[in-house]
Amino acid sequence: MSKAFKAIKVTDNVYWVGAIDWGIRDFHGYLTERGTTYNAFLVMADKITLIDTVKPPFQSELLGRISSVVDPRDIDYVVSNHAEMDHSGSLVGVIEAVQPEKVFASSMGCKHLQEHFHLDREIVAVKDGESLSLGNLGLTFLETRMLHWPDNMFSYMPEEKLLFSQDAFGMHLATSERFADEIDESLLEYEGSKYYANILLPMSALVTKLIKKVGELNLPIEIIACDHGPIWRQDLDKIIGWYAKWAEQKPTNKAVVVFDTMWFSTAKMAEAIAEGLMAGGAQPKLMPLKSNHRSNVATEILDAGALVVGSPTLNNNMYPTVADLLTYLKGLKPKNLVGAAFGSYGWSGEAVGQVRGMMEEMKIDLVDEGLRIKFVPNDDALKQCFDLGLRVAEKTRGLLEAA
Ligand code: FEO
Repeated sequence: MSKAFKAIKVTDNVYWVGAIDWGIRDFHGYLTERGTTYNAFLVMADKITLIDTVKPPFQSELLGRISSVVDPRDIDYVVSNHAEMDHSGSLVGVIEAVQPEKVFASSMGCKHLQEHFHLDREIVAVKDGESLSLGNLGLTFLETRMLHWPDNMFSYMPEEKLLFSQDAFGMHLATSERFADEIDESLLEYEGSKYYANILLPMSALVTKLIKKVGELNLPIEIIACDHGPIWRQDLDKIIGWYAKWAEQKPTNKAVVVFDTMWFSTAKMAEAIAEGLMAGGAQPKLMPLKSNHRSNVATEILDAGALVVGSPTLNNNMYPTVADLLTYLKGLKPKNLVGAAFGSYGWSGEAVGQVRGMMEEMKIDLVDEGLRIKFVPNDDALKQCFDLGLRVAEKTRGLLEAA
């Protein structure tokens, strides 16, 4: 067992024993520019309990940190709050190393864990609201179905006023600091919003409901121990307030103009559209796909009022990077957006119609059919682009007035 890894004390009875993934840059399609952590927690109760595990390559790091507090074979219970591999991937190895008396998960968690690992032992299903005694401490389980998988649940420890919130309130951020109050607030807000926009956005209605439900339960919570990024032990209203705001998807006058270009004609169009947006009072954010990752576009859209998408036509199709972006964004189901499609073409020019079709499927309120310009835009064409920007700005104002 590696002695290089140490546990970090969260409370007198709870230790962080997770792993820091400094190098990860692709998290199922999400650019994790600052890495991430897979948080797991050791509860030193009469029944010693491990909450969640880590991604498989980090199993020895997890066991090493546990060993800095207790012999892993002394662990009695393992609780799996979420079956996704970044938290359950080491479960089989942990079960082998620890031989726990019992492993607990939600009913859907039991199903998912079996479907992942085909275990030859029972996982004990716990119900929403059920409590588990750990002797001197206890856990109460709160199912959070579809936040963001069917199996997710929170575990609440009343004695420590501590909520183990799995993915919720987390962020992909690898740091040497373990607590949010040790980290710059603007970084927390940015990485938190990026995580929300790329993971939780499609479930925003459920997020709003959950915040309300937790409020109604009136649970005293002093610590939120999430499964990614820093632990919150101060100013909990900050992260909860951010979640409430992000879930609303309230639009602003920001207009994201995202495009790719073959010979810079669609890029010239984008710049002229941005000028029109500015003249109309909107705040354009130009995001060429050659230098902006899809997950950063999703982050910018979180508080935008407009999305304008440009694509040249390549072999009768929209550009592959634009197709990639729209497929990704469609799955995230952003709301409260107006928009437009545009692009340069040579002869057939299908891309703008295809982009428009995808945007309609996403229920984006489009200003018109979109703007196609043949080959290189001349001054008249650039004026059309400028006017398109003006119309999008005007429609955005209408959206803000109605919101
Ligand atoms: Fe961090 Fe849904 O896994």
